[in-house]
Amino acid sequence: MKFFSHELAIDLGTANTVIFQKGQIALDEPSIVAIDTKTGELIAVGDEALHMEGKEHQGITTIRPLSSGVIADFDACEKMIKGFIHKMSGGKKGFFAPKLKIVVGISKGSTPVEVRAVRDSCEHAGAHDLYLIHEPMASALGVGLDVLAPMGNMIVDIGGGSTEIAAISLGGIAEAESIRIAGNQITYDIIDYMARQYNIRIGFRTAEEIKCKIGSVLMDLPADEAPEPMLVQGRNVSTSHPIEATITYKDVACCIDKTISQIENGIMKVLERVKPEIYTDLMRNGIWLAGGGALLRGIAKRFSDRMNMTFHVADDPLKAVARGTCKAIEDTEKYKYKFLMR
Ligand SMILES: Nc1ncnc2c1ncn2[C@@H]1O[C@H](COP(=O)(O)OP(=O)(O)OP(=O)(O)O)[C@@H](O)[C@H]1O
Ligand SMILES: [Mg+2]
Repeated sequence: MKFFSHELAIDLGTANTVIFQKGQIALDEPSIVAIDTKTGELIAVGDEALHMEGKEHQGITTIRPLSSGVIADFDACEKMIKGFIHKMSGGKKGFFAPKLKIVVGISKGSTPVEVRAVRDSCEHAGAHDLYLIHEPMASALGVGLDVLAPMGNMIVDIGGGSTEIAAISLGGIAEAESIRIAGNQITYDIIDYMARQYNIRIGFRTAEEIKCKIGSVLMDLPADEAPEPMLVQGRNVSTSHPIEATITYKDVACCIDKTISQIENGIMKVLERVKPEIYTDLMRNGIWLAGGGALLRGIAKRFSDRMNMTFHVADDPLKAVARGTCKAIEDTEKYKYKFLMR
């Protein structure tokens, strides 16, 4: 009897879930579900659920199942993975059965309980053959680095909920830091700043839009790279009347400075700890930036200036982990005694 066999490479991120299948991207949607408040049934998942966020009534609850890079709501996470798999199968039956192989990325800073939560939710969603991979290792593979070589490489993946920093050599992680500060914190910095500086109360989605459109980590960008100022509308914090303000990339650079410094400190810590031979390799190879945070304007330059090392931004940094996870699933035999975990 011939069985269906499906292989899914999953990056279960705080902000986005990306799934590769047969070497190609099969799903890229925000990590969010909308649940019927009374019955607990899934109403929508991913893009549809995102449109409902902030506009719910009592009958609907939207939940982001991950927080700081790890599962915060186990039940919602399981529903989300099932919902995504169902979506990818186009609602076809039999997609779960009988052999679903999954490789999924986990934060290097996960506690055993958090790892267990990922494993259980994938198994409940139908995984029969499950492997886990640390996200920075997946990023390194995704960037195209030779992770098995006796050569030091370093990855900084700035996601939504966590920043994963790791020095990699000989198929393992030599030194790492996982800090629970990343893109979401930057968005909250913008929300706070708008209230303090301009008296405008804005929501998470508006702040995300500001960050993605005009976000910069440098106070002075070259004229040809500087984005146009942006008009922001919202509610006056004190009067509740409508109010608007025009903000520039300098506003953003100023208010996110502290958070970016915390990420820099994390990178410094790893650089201080790596063995001298690996450090020398890093001087030669530079350090790779991945995750959505790598898209902030000027980030490679700022880090390079601060640390006197070359920083490169990965191609399509939002997909680095998923792409690497996909490479791992294609070569499970080669990697299973190295860094893939059961
Ligand atoms: N152009 C951009 N400029 C700045 N930030 C961006 C941009 N595009 C996306 N982001 C941010 O990147 C983050 C999402 O990145 P990513 O998908 O790598 O995170 P994730 O994998 O879901 O989260 P984590 O790895 O922490 O679990 C969000 O905070 C998003 O706002
Ligand atoms: Mg990520």
